[in-house]
Amino acid sequence: MGIVDKNVKSLPFVQAELNYLAPTTEKPRTYAFAPPPGEPQSTLTSQPHLVPIFDVRPIVDGLSLDRQGFVLARHKTAVRDFADDEEIARVYYPEAEAFLRTTLKADRVFIFDHTVRKRIPGSADVRGVGPRQPATRVHVDQTDASGRNRVREHLPDEADRLLKGRVQVINLWRPIRGPLRDAPLAMCDATTVAPDDLVASDLIYPNRRGEIYAVTFNPTHRWFYAPDMDVDEVLLLKCYDSATDGRTRFGPHTAFTDPTTPVDAPPRESIELRTLVFHFDGHAD
Ligand code: OGA
Ligand code: FE
Repeated sequence: MGIVDKNVKSLPFVQAELNYLAPTTEKPRTYAFAPPPGEPQSTLTSQPHLVPIFDVRPIVDGLSLDRQGFVLARHKTAVRDFADDEEIARVYYPEAEAFLRTTLKADRVFIFDHTVRKRIPGSADVRGVGPRQPATRVHVDQTDASGRNRVREHLPDEADRLLKGRVQVINLWRPIRGPLRDAPLAMCDATTVAPDDLVASDLIYPNRRGEIYAVTFNPTHRWFYAPDMDVDEVLLLKCYDSATDGRTRFGPHTAFTDPTTPVDAPPRESIELRTLVFHFDGHAD
């Protein structure tokens, strides 16, 4: 059951098309760079569904990462120029690490990468060619296998010990130009997602293979977004949790085209950090 349905139905909403995965029998795969000759860039087939996406602001206090799989929080950043990778590493990484450690009461937070996106109308999201574009397929960044693998990949010497405790992959998502009215992010209330809706899909890089979940449509899904996000607001998105005690482990999300976006709204600019969040004793509140 999602966030008390009676309340949800009274929230303001927009209607938008979200790109789900068309049901498939073969494991989908996508090349992050040019595919080998004769292979398609991706075997994922999109199936758009028009759904209501509810304004989450009136109910933000009721959200939790362990249920809905996302929360909205306030956090000011001292970064002046998100085009400057050196400043991101020097200023944003430490401040985000401290913020997440405190907010999540974590023993340790390790940031493993970041992505800056700048929408260029009419551009496709091709890695290595221009800025990254909003991600317009419903997905979860990790799977059961790849979430755990992230610890081995990024902290190989400590992985055995760290994997005895609880580990989560949490994304920290922020507009870097606000208020954000173009190509916002939609989050699915993870309590409305059935395990069978998540379809493990390969993401193939030149030197490694990642795995994400694509998501098939289910009419139970309830979608939310935070209208007009500002630069001192962040979304925390759960992409993996090692806990198997009933907490949410995987939070689907996607960018979407909001039909109510003013025509003169500046194109979206955002940054997302992907992090490993550790609780050494295995539990957390
Ligand atoms: C993410 C994500 C997509 C976007 O932060 O994990 O999927 O368009 N972002 O910002
Ligand atoms: Fe994502």
